[in-house]
Amino acid sequence: MLKNKDLLGLKDCTAEEIYEILDTAEQMKKLLNSDCKQSDMLRGKALVTLFYENSTRTRSSFELAAKYLGASEVNISVATSSVQKGETLIDTGETLDAMNVDYIVIRHPMAGAPKLLSEHVKASVLNGGDGMHEHPTQALLDMFTVREKYGKIEGLKIAILGDIKHSRVAMSNLFGLKKLGAEVYMYAPATMMPKDIDKLGAHIAKSREEAVEGADAVMGLRIQLERQHGGLFPSLSEYAKYYGVNDAVLKYAKKDAIVLHPGPVNRGVELTPQVIDGEKSLILEQVKNGVAVRMALLKLLGEYREAHL
Ligand code: CP
Repeated sequence: MLKNKDLLGLKDCTAEEIYEILDTAEQMKKLLNSDCKQSDMLRGKALVTLFYENSTRTRSSFELAAKYLGASEVNISVATSSVQKGETLIDTGETLDAMNVDYIVIRHPMAGAPKLLSEHVKASVLNGGDGMHEHPTQALLDMFTVREKYGKIEGLKIAILGDIKHSRVAMSNLFGLKKLGAEVYMYAPATMMPKDIDKLGAHIAKSREEAVEGADAVMGLRIQLERQHGGLFPSLSEYAKYYGVNDAVLKYAKKDAIVLHPGPVNRGVELTPQVIDGEKSLILEQVKNGVAVRMALLKLLGEYREAHL
């Protein structure tokens, strides 16, 4: 059983909790792949998505996960909600709590916003991405995809390339992959590499080739243009040439290595179109796995709620 009512990040999850989520997601993927992807496991429960930033994958996959498990779901469009009239995050959360909502999925530009919300609501809060801090459900679906391919994570080499500094996906993956025993190599322009990330267990590679050499999985990251103020790299074409993932770079990886990207991809920048659409790419499988992982989280947090609240 999970140890908390909320999922705020992987830094605070144990390896046992991560394995429980991945194992449960395996069952959920079977349901997702069945003819009738419907269960009444969460009948009578309600989920709200509260996104202060744009999303396609995270929001829709949480909404579908809730529907497939029989829960009701509602999206609050922040652009047309009372947030625009000055309502605070805590007041919004308490308003949702008053409606007996069971789950709130929040994405927010401020690191720590999901934690703040969780301290003021009875609902289980799931972090759908907070600033440059964590995006735990993305990392869980990435780990699920890796484990589905190799049957394990321990001992694998995972290369993460791109805008590490602004990436909550990179942070959550580093925490999760290290807990499960993977070796994580990172490579980025110096201006996009956070200081001291090696102290969290990452190997900082000196070149793209060193990062990818012998890797089992190569993950490209989106350049987070919305979180930086320009001047961190000369131009998109130079970024693609010196830091992007292309077929020549992938030759350094293991022969059957996989390519991952959290999406949305800037085509031709982080990855070439040939890599995105190539046989090594599991980008769309990651999207499917995202639904299974989010179904698993709703089930497991539902069990926690039954037992503790
Ligand atoms: N990977 C990810 O978080 O995608 P969205 O922004 O579309 O949710």
